[in-house]
Amino acid sequence: MRASTVLFAASSLAVASATGGLLPAGVKTPNTNGFKDPIVHLSKGGRAVCVSGYIPVEAFTDKGLKFNFEVPETQIGLTETFLEYVTPGSGFMDKITDGMMSINGTYQMYSTLCTPAHSMPKGVQLLTHGVGFDSSYWDFAPGYSYVDVAVEYGYATFSYDRLATGKSDKPAPLMVQTPIELEIANNLVKMLRSGKMCDHRFDKVVGAGHSYGSLLTQGITAKYPMSLDAAILTGFSVNTSAIQTFITGLNLAIAAQNQPDRFHGLDPGYLVSNSVISNQIGFFKAPGFDPKILTAAEATKGPVTYGQLFSQSAVSGPAINYVSPVAVVDGESDLPFCYGNCSTPMDLANAVRPALYPMLAGSKFGHYLAPVAGHGLNLHYSAVTAYHYIQDFLKDQGLGM
Ligand SMILES: *[C@@H]1O[C@H](CO)[C@@H](O)[C@H](O)[C@H]1NC(C)=O
Ligand SMILES: *[C@@H]1O[C@H](CO)[C@@H](O)[C@H](O)[C@H]1NC(C)=O
Ligand SMILES: *[C@@H]1O[C@H](CO)[C@@H](O)[C@H](O)[C@H]1NC(C)=O
Repeated sequence: MRASTVLFAASSLAVASATGGLLPAGVKTPNTNGFKDPIVHLSKGGRAVCVSGYIPVEAFTDKGLKFNFEVPETQIGLTETFLEYVTPGSGFMDKITDGMMSINGTYQMYSTLCTPAHSMPKGVQLLTHGVGFDSSYWDFAPGYSYVDVAVEYGYATFSYDRLATGKSDKPAPLMVQTPIELEIANNLVKMLRSGKMCDHRFDKVVGAGHSYGSLLTQGITAKYPMSLDAAILTGFSVNTSAIQTFITGLNLAIAAQNQPDRFHGLDPGYLVSNSVISNQIGFFKAPGFDPKILTAAEATKGPVTYGQLFSQSAVSGPAINYVSPVAVVDGESDLPFCYGNCSTPMDLANAVRPALYPMLAGSKFGHYLAPVAGHGLNLHYSAVTAYHYIQDFLKDQGLGM
């Protein structure tokens, strides 16, 4: 179902700050069960009614990476670490990886469930953001909101600040890794299905990721092939030849020193891209974005830990038992996953199917390159067209709401 009108008047949009503002009179307050310290608000674009709060998630993995690595206390140590990391033949990853270990915890995950104003859908999209952002990536500003478009198509969305970002827990930096984050994401899928959020059992759960969030979402399809009804992988490919250039371009800095107002007291193992220039290099393609959006992205940038950067390739791999729909959607000029051109040496979004979903019927696979967009696709002018591609893909796959 596609609503033909904006649900709320423009005046309510002006309230947008941390959230999209308070509910207008006449809109029923949703059930907030399952959320600790809940607040009810509109999405930034104004089309969705949302509940935000903390959700405790228990998770365990015996596939954690054991690192033989001491987190540098200084910027010089940090910079040297990533110089070694990107040097071919340095053997850096082999030197610092020392087998596996188990990781577990009950993590407080700051989460947001959004729905259309007067209905609770039977389907929900679990939105997992990437490095450099937090959950606001999915509802960044009016006109840039994935949440709004999904809700317009009749879906609910569930976004969360990944571990170590936003208001979610910030464990020791080497203990934040893809294997435990995969279990957290998969447990959120189970909780959505079993009625833990808002006392509502969702029948259909679609996983949508961006970048690192796509690595996790793809990892779920490989490890738990029955978990998701569809997977949407954005800012993603299997060509990692530009990751070193991307990491170098970020000019990683100690978060607590770089933005002390936001990250004061955070462990030096929490890092951010250094400046608005680094942010543009990693995530943007001119002239496909509004400079004000780049400034906002820099002001709200999210941290990443050494553990996350060192475990990037630990969970993604061929999903031979997964048979549900998959779409890969990239900004056509994505830097880390396409070296700035997703059409060369082939369509790198399309190339994901033979590499990771060799058993999947071609009819269940979609791919799309958004024009004049970089890795931070959702922050570009062409984002909304990509959102419509994704929602139409789900509808074509029999997953419309
Ligand atoms: C969970 O983690 C703690 C350390 O945080 C550890 O002592 C305990 O053995 C772990 N439990 C399991 C089941 O691995
Ligand atoms: C990955 O991309 C690079 C840069 O565009 C290209 O040179 C290389 O051939 C690609 N590798 C594969 C396996 O497609
Ligand atoms: C990207 O690669 C394709 C195929 O090689 C080429 O036709 C196109 O001009 C390239 N785009 C840019 C912006 O360089």
